[in-house]
Amino acid sequence: MAHALAKATLGLTLPAHIDPLKISFVAKEIDLVEWKGDMLAVGVTEKDMVKDVNSKFQNSILKKLDSQHGGLLFEVSKEEDFTGKAGQSAVLRLSGVGPKRVSLFGLGKCTTGSATSAYRCLGESVASAVKTYQANNAGITLASFEGLTSEMKLTAVSAIATGISLGTYEDNRFKSESKKPTLKSVEFLGFGAGPELEKKLKYTEDVCTGVILGKELVNSPANVLTPGVLAQEAEKIASTYSNVLTAKILDTEQCKELKMGSYLGVAAASANPPKFIHLCYKPPSGSVKKKLALVGKGLTFDSGGYNIKTGPGCSIELMKFDMGGSAAVLGAAKALGQIKPAGVEVHFIVAACENMISGTGMRPGDIVTASNGKTIEVNNTDAEGRLTLADALVYACNQGVDKIVDLATLTGACVVALGPSIAGVFTPSDELAKEVVAASEVAGEKLWRMPMEESYWESMKSGVADMVNTGGRQGGSILAALFLKQFVDEKVQWLHIDMAGPVWNDKKKTATGFAISTLVEWVLSNSSS
Ligand code: BES
Ligand code: MN
Ligand code: ZN
Repeated sequence: MAHALAKATLGLTLPAHIDPLKISFVAKEIDLVEWKGDMLAVGVTEKDMVKDVNSKFQNSILKKLDSQHGGLLFEVSKEEDFTGKAGQSAVLRLSGVGPKRVSLFGLGKCTTGSATSAYRCLGESVASAVKTYQANNAGITLASFEGLTSEMKLTAVSAIATGISLGTYEDNRFKSESKKPTLKSVEFLGFGAGPELEKKLKYTEDVCTGVILGKELVNSPANVLTPGVLAQEAEKIASTYSNVLTAKILDTEQCKELKMGSYLGVAAASANPPKFIHLCYKPPSGSVKKKLALVGKGLTFDSGGYNIKTGPGCSIELMKFDMGGSAAVLGAAKALGQIKPAGVEVHFIVAACENMISGTGMRPGDIVTASNGKTIEVNNTDAEGRLTLADALVYACNQGVDKIVDLATLTGACVVALGPSIAGVFTPSDELAKEVVAASEVAGEKLWRMPMEESYWESMKSGVADMVNTGGRQGGSILAALFLKQFVDEKVQWLHIDMAGPVWNDKKKTATGFAISTLVEWVLSNSSS
């Protein structure tokens, strides 16, 4: 990140180059009572906390740990009213040669449907405890492995490791001072060990590095992350994994040659020139059976243009996150560059630009012509994302791909409909909807399919051009999806994700890295490895 950003821009801000903390994750088969280190963390369900007739622990692991530590574990759980509910914890400080701390973390009911998110929360809780106690290492186990198949153990290890990696990560690049995280190693105890588990941990780590890149891209303010810098970041990913990734960056002139009038219209007011980014993943060996494209909205800033964002709640000061779709695409590219799946070719496409205001900018009422020849009357310059995606989707179709997934912080309406943590899915293809929703379930990210009601297209008709870019206020995210559909070949399966809500965590004031894990899962489900 820091290399491309190493040029001071407006405001003289230079992000610090902070080496991401590398935590080593290993799985070990040792007896719990022999474990030594800073913190032994035990995931405990409500069922594990059921007491026997003498109102003592029934669970054998808790019993064993409790007697090892002279009954203190039972006492602390009682005093702190620890019942295994999700989010609860109880920490025991010990002296002597064993673990420095033993801590219980509630997993709640942890049913099959909720297990992945419960384990991920466990990882996040461990991460925050590790921060509080400045632990260098941790051991993680569960009070009960009953009924867990080896497949479920793999899932648990992966979800816990994700929670720890992302939970310990803090984006301090723009702070003049910051504390270094302490955690260096995590040992999984009782989950099994061996090559399969190691492979899963490696995969998890690869996805997490992609998620962290995505978060950093979104957190970067627009004076630092211009379209040019975003393009450099893409080139850096390609050069890091140059055996599988290639990069092509088109400038304004080259986009003009491709007749991308819709995209260039949006970019026209900006002093920072647009960059059209195209990365291509090809497997290191073997034939390609499926060709996919991931297309991301890449507005490094969205002022609204002449339809400027005004008034309370318009969130103009957050519009650096309007490149969240492109961050998802590039984060996935980085992860896939490391994972190197077989049998799939993947195109990563971003029409990056800013939506600004100036004398050279697009006016409300202007008519732009997209690269498929369709004309658009721009009745609202703030509906710019769809204008950039129009040309990006035409370009994606021209790559001869079988399937396209696009991601965009496209409409406030989608946030109104689904709230801050669920993304909307729009597609005419039941098959592709199934694939992507299944991938999101594995990834633990929330998607909800929305209808593509064709009759609503009525309000997108123009008196002078083929269409306008905004219809009525009602069903705003459906109208946006119907607009995008105008630029996709009918032969190509296409799915649109509106992630305007989940891109950002308002409480934590930070990017989420949303959709990266889902995209990687989806690409792998289309691979032959
Ligand atoms: N980037 C915004 C969408 C957005 C708004 C994302 C709020 C996250 C939070 C997009 O470019 C936009 O401005 N959309 C307009 C469309 C409208 C003019 C039809 C919107 O949602 O208000
Ligand atoms: Mn806008
Ligand atoms: Zn926007």
